[in-house]
Amino acid sequence: MSQPLAPTEHFERRDGSIERQIRLGETIVGRSALPVAAEGAPDPHDLAAAHDQAWLRLPTAPSLAPGAAPVRVVDLFSGCGALSLGAAEACRALGKRFEPVLAVDIEAWAVQTYGRNFPGGQAVQDSVLSFLGPDGLRADTLGRLTGGVDLLIGGPPCQGHSDLNNHTRRDDPKNELYNSMARFAAVLEPRWILIENVPGAQHDRSGVVQRTWKQLGAMGYRLAGGVLEGVDIGVPQRRRRYFMLASRDRQPPAVATIQAALQQPPRPLSWAVADLLDAPVSADAYDSPSTHHPRNQRRIAYLFQHQLHDLPDPQRPACHRDKPHSYKSVYGRMHWDKPAQTITTGFGSCGQGRFVHSQRQRTLTPHEAARVQFIPDHFGFGPQRRGALQAMIGNAVPPRMAYALCLALMAGA
Ligand SMILES: C[S@@+](CC[C@H](N)C(=O)[O-])C[C@H]1O[C@@H](n2cnc3c(N)ncnc32)[C@H](O)[C@@H]1O
Repeated sequence: MSQPLAPTEHFERRDGSIERQIRLGETIVGRSALPVAAEGAPDPHDLAAAHDQAWLRLPTAPSLAPGAAPVRVVDLFSGCGALSLGAAEACRALGKRFEPVLAVDIEAWAVQTYGRNFPGGQAVQDSVLSFLGPDGLRADTLGRLTGGVDLLIGGPPCQGHSDLNNHTRRDDPKNELYNSMARFAAVLEPRWILIENVPGAQHDRSGVVQRTWKQLGAMGYRLAGGVLEGVDIGVPQRRRRYFMLASRDRQPPAVATIQAALQQPPRPLSWAVADLLDAPVSADAYDSPSTHHPRNQRRIAYLFQHQLHDLPDPQRPACHRDKPHSYKSVYGRMHWDKPAQTITTGFGSCGQGRFVHSQRQRTLTPHEAARVQFIPDHFGFGPQRRGALQAMIGNAVPPRMAYALCLALMAGA
């Protein structure tokens, strides 16, 4: 049996813009364009990089062809909506219209941000579990969802899948959060499903990933699952995530096939943030770096004075100084010409990873971290506190990763 094709991207320069074509084999299944002022006749990878960089820097969301067919979307554990943003970009690439129906997150800041960026649907602050009754979705939930759902997406929280506390794992309610995707699917019967988690979720002792897979298979879905590395498809950051894809229409391509079809050379930190180097520091937390304790500010200065990227042990706190450790990247300075390490919710602290800016004596601003996460300037966080920004940005699924997988689910449909 032949393997399902994954969509590919092709870029062409037009007057003042770059056109993106999506092809399935030889068939063009979508066209979209972005205004780009780039000069010259660059190779295809440069055109792709110029297109994506222009998308990241766009101050307002790109417009859609009028009359595009709607894709009705439910996003569970939505966070700020980065997974939805990637799905929306896949819709745009295929000439479809992303229509938000319902987003659910337990945090107020997340639903505020989701609602701001995806108006028209309902963004609800609640636990996903409270939507579920013993026999499926509660009647009042179903009432919200009249009109059907095409795409169900979600990134359940991943702390429950750490390797700690294996003996209590079977009873960890966090595992059931993952399985709630299948419980929603049983009632909503969406055409497509995308579930995101850390790679370790596959090895969860309670087998929640395998159980969810089986349940979706029994409902008639065809499934694919695998780990996608963001840096391989143009995210300027190393980030590996496990995705499960399910489709009622056809067998989804393997994740490795999707990755190979959208392969890009590694994009360095400078690609993502060079234009923000001396952006005016604002009163708003989004464009200002964290303030560090004087001890940490001295550590940052030391890296620059000695042109280092790793902080030597004698400059570290006692817990690193006095015994062997494997935290080389902690207190580290980022490399301008290499992809960033995984952005976490700790990106504002030099003691939580390699988050010191490559060229300036500070850590990344939330704006810079958002760019490294492939979140564009036209995504509005609004006035939020630093902690909320760090949680939303650090937890986000880079929209380019969500785009790649949603494109593979929906292309040709
Ligand atoms: C990994 S993040 C999701 C990121 C999101 N998919 C994105 O791309 O922006 C997990 C989210 O689940 C939310 N969460 C945790 N427990 C929850 C629950 N019981 N019900 C709803 N949301 C929950 C957290 O607040 C967090 O925003």
